[in-house]
Amino acid sequence: MKAENAQPALLIDPAQRVFKVARRNFVDHEIYEAEKEKIFDRSWLYLGHSSELPKPGDFISRSVGGRSILFTRDAKGQLRALLNTCPHRGAQVCRERKGNAKSFQCFYHGWVFGADGKLRSQPGEESYPEGFKGRDTSNMQAVPRYESYRNFNFVSFDPNIIPLVDYLGNAKEYLDVICDQTDAGMSIVAGSQEYSIRANWKLLTENSIDGYHAMTTHASYFDILMNSTDNMSAGTGGGFGYDLGNGHAVLEYAAPWGRPVAQWIPGWGEAGKTEIARQYDKLVQLYGKERADRIALKNRNLFIFPNLVVNDIMALTVRTYFPMAPDYMVINAWALAPNDETAWARKYRLNNFLEFLGPGGFATPDDAEALEHCQRGFKNSKEALWNDISKGMGKDKPSHNDELQMRAFWTQWNKQMFPAPIPHIKGVAA
Ligand code: FES
Ligand code: FE
Repeated sequence: MKAENAQPALLIDPAQRVFKVARRNFVDHEIYEAEKEKIFDRSWLYLGHSSELPKPGDFISRSVGGRSILFTRDAKGQLRALLNTCPHRGAQVCRERKGNAKSFQCFYHGWVFGADGKLRSQPGEESYPEGFKGRDTSNMQAVPRYESYRNFNFVSFDPNIIPLVDYLGNAKEYLDVICDQTDAGMSIVAGSQEYSIRANWKLLTENSIDGYHAMTTHASYFDILMNSTDNMSAGTGGGFGYDLGNGHAVLEYAAPWGRPVAQWIPGWGEAGKTEIARQYDKLVQLYGKERADRIALKNRNLFIFPNLVVNDIMALTVRTYFPMAPDYMVINAWALAPNDETAWARKYRLNNFLEFLGPGGFATPDDAEALEHCQRGFKNSKEALWNDISKGMGKDKPSHNDELQMRAFWTQWNKQMFPAPIPHIKGVAA
């Protein structure tokens, strides 16, 4: 970004408890272009879950950070993240979204690749020199970096990025709590939700870690919960928001709704009570009471910078989103579930997945509406300059309804976008 065009992106004054975000960050084309290079090309980006490719030959083609990626399990069972570009003359090799294949044949001139990306054959082979097939440059290229943590697979286009485990840092512990819902492993339930919102991608980051909006934006859902004791668990209480470093953040809190792992509500009846008690006892056996209570009774909205959200609430969802323009994003969401879950629990989990977070559920349409309203409000961003995210600033332990989480995101965003402070503007965070 040209320095002469730079306006402060953030205004921070801890003494006055001021933390403001310039609304131009949500509308400006230069910012959007700079984000591609400074945020999406320099972060670890979620690609998919290992359980999506259970068998050798399984593949998924997916758009990640503006790239076309082919995610495969090769004949030896190893997961690979390949750039879905033919080494010959650049066509997309795989044109299907998912499936199982022994090999991939490029549509253009017919080069054939294994699921490991290695060139197997090409028409007119005799016209190429001996050893051509053995050259690395004849194979599909792997993404510059590919690593995974607890079956969450990530890619990065920055060859020099820090290892994924270091990048995840304090967020690892929350992923552990989520993945420890069972000792039988977790899997993505087949199918996904795909939708788009006419709003800047950072609005969904904020919204995903915003406890403050729930009672107003989702009033109709809470009306239903509150109007029937069937929907309410006995033990509810408060919660906290945490800055996990590196731009990651989490809310951890108790809530009234039922959790298939393992918070019972009267609406699930006596059969459900027995089922939930059995699951809870198993968690206590595995981890002891304290951790079992945390896994079973606490909700977590975990955000991993810059665009991965794991909602461990009345269902467990994995959500990722990418900007297509300053005011448009596409979103993908998947349900994650314990492998040893009973049919009873799976039914409630999937009902919950659709009922609250589904694109036609109680939450997502409300959130999409709120975000699109913000984007429309930002039409005045040259005159009405600032968003305020100061709620709970200066508190020792901000609650899950404060805005610490958003400040964690924006601080990292600003660090990557403007690595050196702009000297002539007071109040710009480094
Ligand atoms: Fe793929 Fe030519 S571009 S075979
Ligand atoms: Fe919401």
